[in-house]
Amino acid sequence: MPDLAMLGEDLKKIDRLIMDLVKRRMDVAHLVAQEKQRTGGVMYRPDVEDQRIAGIGEHARRIGLNPHMARAMLYFLIAESCKEQTILLESQGAAQARPEAERLKENLLALTELVADRYDSRESAAKYASLAYAAFELDLIRQDAAALPDAALALDLGCATGRIALELAGAFQRVAGYDVSPHMVAAARANAVARKTPNAAFAQADLDADVLPEADSSVSFVVMNLGTGSDVANLPHVLAEIRRVLKPGGRFFLTFYNADALLYKMGFLPWVASLEAVVNPYTNCLDVKIGDKPVSVHARLYSEAEARALLPPGLSVDAVTSFPQIAAILPDEVLGDDKVRASIDRLDRELARGADGAHAGAYLILRGARV
Ligand SMILES: C[S@@+](CC[C@H](N)C(=O)[O-])C[C@H]1O[C@@H](n2cnc3c(N)ncnc32)[C@H](O)[C@@H]1O
Repeated sequence: MPDLAMLGEDLKKIDRLIMDLVKRRMDVAHLVAQEKQRTGGVMYRPDVEDQRIAGIGEHARRIGLNPHMARAMLYFLIAESCKEQTILLESQGAAQARPEAERLKENLLALTELVADRYDSRESAAKYASLAYAAFELDLIRQDAAALPDAALALDLGCATGRIALELAGAFQRVAGYDVSPHMVAAARANAVARKTPNAAFAQADLDADVLPEADSSVSFVVMNLGTGSDVANLPHVLAEIRRVLKPGGRFFLTFYNADALLYKMGFLPWVASLEAVVNPYTNCLDVKIGDKPVSVHARLYSEAEARALLPPGLSVDAVTSFPQIAAILPDEVLGDDKVRASIDRLDRELARGADGAHAGAYLILRGARV
């Protein structure tokens, strides 16, 4: 006898997957609208849409579905996409007049203002692949910090609420965290007070343009974790600053969203991946929701070769890894089970060794030293 409760649960899962796919379709339609706006393309092309609808009827017939229902469903989705496109075209005239980089930076400031207060509590609710990555990189950061010949000063670039800086404060005489967001800096300062960490200082700085206050060759360790290397728009400037402030023998820990990740190679996942931050491969942005409104912030994918090519002479990479590969392509629901998590985590840690030279994890980590 079929178990109705179990079947009901399966229906619930399938309904959610259908909605995830509809969302993907809407997102792609949104990008089509942006491109049409840029090139002045025609929004609704009945011949193309009719062909698409006829095609889906055929596909439905082949897999044993009622083709009339399939055509009606697609017709409905196309109509909804057209409505969304019309709203977008009408609302974006003013926004598009501003330079793209300025618009993305404004979005970042608005987003960080909104999330700064709840950033720390959000982390505990994060999806599994993101939590697994954060734990993975923290182990490596601790290892690198412990192996340094001197522990005078560490920098946390893109510090947000100061998580890494405060973690390092116990191991260094001084730590300094910089972030472009005044709200993140305020939250980091409040955390430092709450955790009685007087040797941690936080200040606002735009890493894309500002010169860091540190003197040349004065820093023992520089960290840009959680993909912050991809979040900054002017990476060569940041890297030149890192090169300037690091002492000879001082170490860097740089992370990026990995262009060679399985997640991005697959191009399309028919579900929402278990990762908080997934770069939109069409725009090289992270699309984040503020309330009901999706906004984009700068986030560039880098391959290992691309990231290495930007390092100035004097910064030498001695370890490359990436993480996670498998957890990043699975839906969070699949990773809800402890045993499944443990085995996927083992597999991902094995893959992170990159024994065959391939690094296909979602985040790319380059570690090394100033020579
Ligand atoms: C991935 S989050 C930071 C992660 C943080 N270190 C942590 O462990 O929670 C990236 C941070 O970089 C900051 N950021 C992005 N672009 C920046 C820029 N151009 N200058 C300074 N900070 C920037 C953002 O405001 C955000 O807080």
